[in-house]
Amino acid sequence: MFQLDLAPADPILGLTETFKADTHPDKINLGVGVYQDATGKTPILKAVTQAETRLLETETSKSYLSIPGVPEVATYTQELLFGAGHSIIKDGRAKTAQTPGGTGALRVAADFLLRAAPKATVWISNPSWANHRAIFEAAGFPVKDYRYYDKASQGLDGEGFMADLEGVSEGDVVILHGCCHNPSGIDLDQAAWEAIAAQAKAKKLICLVDFAYQGFGEGLEEDRAGLHVLLDAGLAVLVASSYSKNFGLYNERIGAITVVEETANDAVNAFSHVQAAIRAIYSSPPAHGGKIVATILGDATLKALWIQELADMRARIKEMRHAFVQGMADRQQAVDFDFINHQKGMFSFSGLTQEQVLKLRADNHIYIVGSGRINVAGITPANIDPLCDAIAKVL
Ligand code: LMR
Repeated sequence: MFQLDLAPADPILGLTETFKADTHPDKINLGVGVYQDATGKTPILKAVTQAETRLLETETSKSYLSIPGVPEVATYTQELLFGAGHSIIKDGRAKTAQTPGGTGALRVAADFLLRAAPKATVWISNPSWANHRAIFEAAGFPVKDYRYYDKASQGLDGEGFMADLEGVSEGDVVILHGCCHNPSGIDLDQAAWEAIAAQAKAKKLICLVDFAYQGFGEGLEEDRAGLHVLLDAGLAVLVASSYSKNFGLYNERIGAITVVEETANDAVNAFSHVQAAIRAIYSSPPAHGGKIVATILGDATLKALWIQELADMRARIKEMRHAFVQGMADRQQAVDFDFINHQKGMFSFSGLTQEQVLKLRADNHIYIVGSGRINVAGITPANIDPLCDAIAKVL
């Protein structure tokens, strides 16, 4: 009836399916952005298990949540984003709804923007998370790229970034990665955040900060420094949070969308449209993930345990970055991988070409996204030697 050709496989989730189908015992998955511990497992955090035990004992109903979800998710999300007691919270300038993951938050943001800024063009970094383009095009927005990654220096293309920002039209939407840029691991520096804040002010740009990795860069507070440059400039912003990575709650689909407005009244009005957008997509969010996050963040002991577990994940990824750079230096001198030590979060843009990525898959059962993005959290003490051997061979 539909006469459709096959849709292309998703560049990230499709790779996971191919990896699962591979029966080789020594296969290595550096594709999807999921944390793995030193034994290659994606653990349930202890804080999460304890919160779930409590929930099982105390929950009395599975009735619907309200459209914005668990109220405490909103409260604690704002504390993570702004800091407890921040004037934005006190002044009622922010409103938050719990969403099904960070992807859900972005889709709600897109549908909200259809109401608030229907004529806008949406700008994303080049490169960006592949789903950014897909989500905003699916909502009907034109999507354009701004320059971001400089291949020669394996760093930020600061000049290209600034120049492309000049070309953004009044009222357009600019998507920024709050920290731990996906896929490059290269974050905006202070000067770049200040430049975007100035442009946003001058041209009434709408900044949408995708904040999927808070705590994976340098720490919960350090990682929000860029967002705070925008907030300190008094800008209205949208923030899409994800608790997939920092709480390890991938399959519970828990995130949040936050609208920060110039006044409390504007926030109430904007949030009524966020809620209308949610109602038309999924009515209200699933409860379990939100209740886990609320239970952990509402309890001093569980919160401290979570912060420690998050710090441990961050430290292990950094350790693997150093070990990988060293491992590659020990094997060859043709490519200096030191730049990987300066990237933040789960990902690294390795510089591997599509051809090299395919060869690693075919010959060594090593799965890397076609762009050359490596999930550093997939490297373990057990797989690092075969991994470095195989990469040295394809260089
Ligand atoms: C990734 O970039 O690998 C993750 O954010 C998972 C996803 O949904 O793509």
